[in-house]
Amino acid sequence: MNESPTGADAAVDPETAAAAQAAALVAARFRELHGADPEGVWSAPGRVNLIGEHTDYNAGLCLPIAIPQRTLVAARRRTDRRLTLASLQEPRGYDLGLDDVAAGAPQGWGAYAAGVPWALARRRHDVGGLDLVVDGRVPLGAGLSSSAALECAVAVACSDLFTLGLVEHDTGRAELASACRDAENVVAQAPTGGMDQSAALRCTPAHALLLDCRDGSTQQVPFDLPAHGLVLLVMDTRARHALVDGQYAARRQSCERAAHDLGVRSLREVPADSLDRALPRLDDDVTRRRARHVVTEIQRVRDTVTALRADDFAAVGVLFDESHASMRDDFEISCAELDLAVETARRHGALGSRMTGGGFGGSAIAVVPADRLAVVTEAVTEAFAHADFRAPQCFPVQAAGPARRDG
Ligand code: GLA
Repeated sequence: MNESPTGADAAVDPETAAAAQAAALVAARFRELHGADPEGVWSAPGRVNLIGEHTDYNAGLCLPIAIPQRTLVAARRRTDRRLTLASLQEPRGYDLGLDDVAAGAPQGWGAYAAGVPWALARRRHDVGGLDLVVDGRVPLGAGLSSSAALECAVAVACSDLFTLGLVEHDTGRAELASACRDAENVVAQAPTGGMDQSAALRCTPAHALLLDCRDGSTQQVPFDLPAHGLVLLVMDTRARHALVDGQYAARRQSCERAAHDLGVRSLREVPADSLDRALPRLDDDVTRRRARHVVTEIQRVRDTVTALRADDFAAVGVLFDESHASMRDDFEISCAELDLAVETARRHGALGSRMTGGGFGGSAIAVVPADRLAVVTEAVTEAFAHADFRAPQCFPVQAAGPARRDG
């Protein structure tokens, strides 16, 4: 496993070594449970969205990166049409027929895994029974898309094991992402917009993914902060975060109402420079503010890409700050913990900071000069203690690679 071909002392890349170790661990658990080796181990990453929040279900633009934290799945085909699921983290396991998977069934974490073969079969891919053992290493409830990581790890496993041929090219990966989104929307019944699954399947190392949710097209935008003496810091507030509850769906409905009242298919069709003329045509203040967030946020994604391409990180910081203000004041999806993390990071030297993901808890991110990383982390930790909030988890991330086979 990853030894130098000559047996000499050529160093093994630590990331490759860690991935091989993680794969061996979940494979060992599979052997314990099933008395046989898995046919392979696959993994998919969590994501951090740099900017472009709640734009995906408005046919807009967003800009996620894949993060190094991944969910692994050890898998083996079965000869019948049953699906067994076990997890190193969750006590609850599952044993169900593939034909028992449906809208809203099964419930709990198994929906995200079982929904994938169901969604692939609905797209006429020939997928049979499976034994799956999961090691979820993307922090849960942190707004880093642990559920999409699970779906996408199962999806690449299915593609390889049932020779669907969808992993090898971007068109196939886009189809896997759509299937994973169906799994989440229909089986797990979370009305999310598809960004997370595209990130987990289509991001590349050292790049952010500019995703156009109107037509599914993408561009890889160089994103290598360490090369510029900077770090992307994730601050997981550990405040509650649940997408299945009503707030996310309520935001979607407001956006749909705004588009309907403006006579457009989606808020993507409203150019930022026509906003002043469009907003007075909406008849309540809340709908106006929801629409203003989406339209201005889509423009901020374009501006961030321009700034990144010019290595203008000061401008990126300003756009992060404006995005956070828009989510706090217009879209109203921030919370006290997120605001405190963002303000503290800025006060101690971050170039810019914003909440990321669905909101109502979860994580914030900050662009921080490398030599301020310890100071910012300490300041955020202290501010949380002072406010009597749960201790946050702060860690730097780099743009990592997409779902893949690991062993
Ligand atoms: C969650 C959803 C995504 C997206 C973000 C907000 O992560 O899963 O589809 O809507 O919230 O940008």
